[in-house]
Amino acid sequence: MDKIVIEGGHPLKGVVKISGAKNAALPIIAAGLLTGGRHRLLNIPRLRDIRTIRYIMEKLGTVFQEAGDVLEVNSDNLTAHEAPYELVKTMRASILLLGPLLARLGRAKISLPGGCAIGARPINLHLKALVSMGADIYMEHGYINATAKHLKGADLFFDIPTVTGTENILMAAVTARGTTTLRNAANEPEIKDLAKMLSAMGADIEGAGTDTIVIHGVDHLTPCEHTVIPDRIEAGTFMIGAAITGGDVHVNGCRPEHLTALTEKLRQTGTEVTIEDGGIRVQGPESIESVDIKTMPFPGFATDLQAQFMALMSVAKGWSMFRETVFENRFIHVSELRRLGADIEINGNQALIKGRERLLSAPVMATDLRASASLILAGLVAEGGLTEVHRIYHLDRGYEAIEDKFNGLGAKIRREKGPVV
Ligand code: UD1
Repeated sequence: MDKIVIEGGHPLKGVVKISGAKNAALPIIAAGLLTGGRHRLLNIPRLRDIRTIRYIMEKLGTVFQEAGDVLEVNSDNLTAHEAPYELVKTMRASILLLGPLLARLGRAKISLPGGCAIGARPINLHLKALVSMGADIYMEHGYINATAKHLKGADLFFDIPTVTGTENILMAAVTARGTTTLRNAANEPEIKDLAKMLSAMGADIEGAGTDTIVIHGVDHLTPCEHTVIPDRIEAGTFMIGAAITGGDVHVNGCRPEHLTALTEKLRQTGTEVTIEDGGIRVQGPESIESVDIKTMPFPGFATDLQAQFMALMSVAKGWSMFRETVFENRFIHVSELRRLGADIEINGNQALIKGRERLLSAPVMATDLRASASLILAGLVAEGGLTEVHRIYHLDRGYEAIEDKFNGLGAKIRREKGPVV
């Protein structure tokens, strides 16, 4: 398996261009199932998760054409309705196919996504809402089997605002009969982006980006052209990279309004964050102040940036307290950060970090996508040799050309091919 080898001690300096958002591109590509005709999607990142959803949709009959970051999606002839275990187990977001398949074909069979490294991650809220919309759903042999002659509008309430759940219901409701009102919906920017694409297809949606979304079902959708928003988690990772290395980075092509919680926290560490034309400039401080973090749904501090920010706090001056409120087991990166010398205590969903003057290089193991990014950030400042990050296939799920982008900023990172195991 490949590993990434990092020589620490080089401040990041220069310009980095942010790619399209993985978590927006996935539902947007899935929405291509809702109607035949040729959709033209722009700013699609080249990532393993994108290849996975394409591969599953090809098995359903969708045809793709790719040119750079432009992806054409054509679902004229859908011939299957099943997402198999072998693929779903590599990417939980495959559950995003459930809503559009039910809406278009009236049936879907999707392998039940299991738990993952960061928690149990149930999908009960997706299923309950679809049942309220008239779907028949049963589990058999590890698969969700769903059928619905005609989905109908319903009054829905999510106990917890779920991101992919909100996206699934949006896609199921756009052609349902009548009006669907979804309360306590998630309001992440990726949901607003999906709603924008669906509206360009002719859907009638109000309130996307707030916690109440009203969808009036329409009879007919048409293919559309849509540009995916920039990836706020990738942008945030480079912003933290600038801060931790005491660098000076122009993070270009990102949307500052999607990064306000991180911007605020970085400023409290003494980092200078300037909103400029086309992005954000981040200048790291001489000495990093400690701040506390509580992860929350948008616009709160993103759980997908918690691990990276913990790398930063590992070398801050003083103590900081992290509270993870979105996922129950999202501190698995802690034991690997400790291998680099970080001083972190975990107590339930809280982590107490005592900033150290320095981290020391060591071999570490990536455990999930964002944990991998946090280890790379820590490796950028680890002293006394090379830091090796193993199992980086997690990283390739969600960061486009990450070594090239870091090296373009003056880091010394290389990928080493390892034996296939
Ligand atoms: C999405 C993102 C992921 C991000 C997460 C939270 C994608 C592809 N992934 O994941 O990167 O970390 O949002 O911002 O967009 N829950 C239930 N029942 C359900 C669904 C969710 O109890 O049916 C709970 C989860 O266990 C979790 C919370 O709700 O505690 C939020 O999860 P959710 O928003 O659904 O995360 P994902 O959509 O899987």
